[in-house]
Amino acid sequence: MHLGRTTLSKFLIENISGTQDGAALAALLVDVAAAVKAISALSAKGALGGATGTLDTINVQGETQKPLDVLSNTAFVNTFQLGGLVAGVASEEMDDPFPIQPPHTRGPFLAIFDPLDGSSNIDSNVSVGSIFSILRAPETGEPVLQDYLQPGVKQVAAGYSVYGPATLMVITVGNGTHGFTLDREVGNFILTHPNMQIPADTNEFAINTSNERFWEPPVTRYIGECKAGKTGPRERDFNMRWIASMVAEVHRIMMRGGIFMYPRDTKDVSKPGRLRLMYEANPMGFIVEQAGGRASTGRERILDIQPDLIHQRVPVILGSRNEVDRVVHYHAQYDAGSDQPYESPLFNERGLYRP
Ligand code: F6P
Repeated sequence: MHLGRTTLSKFLIENISGTQDGAALAALLVDVAAAVKAISALSAKGALGGATGTLDTINVQGETQKPLDVLSNTAFVNTFQLGGLVAGVASEEMDDPFPIQPPHTRGPFLAIFDPLDGSSNIDSNVSVGSIFSILRAPETGEPVLQDYLQPGVKQVAAGYSVYGPATLMVITVGNGTHGFTLDREVGNFILTHPNMQIPADTNEFAINTSNERFWEPPVTRYIGECKAGKTGPRERDFNMRWIASMVAEVHRIMMRGGIFMYPRDTKDVSKPGRLRLMYEANPMGFIVEQAGGRASTGRERILDIQPDLIHQRVPVILGSRNEVDRVVHYHAQYDAGSDQPYESPLFNERGLYRP
């Protein structure tokens, strides 16, 4: 029973309804939760829902769509259109942003989302999820492309849901990262993970090592050192995970630490990375930073990137801060042409444990 426990709505009323546009933002996040519940119900039906297999349509990313990609996109678009709280939406599954048109009412926000991330895993019943980013809309008029192209630091809220054994929604409005578990029988999201904190250190890395021959030297160096374990310069063993579902991967890191990398590679030189800035890297970067972690391309903080395109791709390295810092340092050394051994910030001149 959830009586006496904090529902998502209560949490939002208590935490943000008094801030600028706070009541509208709280209502918008309740709308997001409604779409998430619909997608959770659809995905939980599996083959019984008749939405398995592959469609013969290809999205703007060149990826073959799954029926659930399209249904999840519709769930979000319809919810936002009827909610009256956003002026426009952009999605992984739509070529261009879509301004809300009369008779629907426009609101003060823009919503950008990946309706079903990791959907290549759906038929094997592996956890998938949705990712969303909320920005401010222009004060008047119909939003144009440029209005969406705001750096991640401008996000007013972001979050993801994970459709696994349990459905969870993890959000930030800039005051920490908080996780809510769906009580399926009652239909409420209950605050189960207040103030999530990513441990600063970790022994677990996640990367698709089949791409190793395409990586840049700093990434090869870092992963090589992790794999060398106790016998290498790190002098301890590491473990590896790769689910190929970013939400599931980030959620594991939120729960127990880790580093997730989809770095720049030369597999396809037209793409500087695999993951998309506006609806994958930015919202996850905001969530991770608010939980004490880091999110970088290896050379730049993700949230500082000025976007050029709505479907722009970027390298992503995120998670436990000491490991992300180390990878960033390896990139800086490589770019400077130096190859000094890495000194942990904890032990260097300004560190806590200077000998
Ligand atoms: O949308 C991207 C995505 O499905 C992520 O969820 C996941 O981390 C990644 O692609 C997996 O990529 P790959 O199939 O190359 O391992």
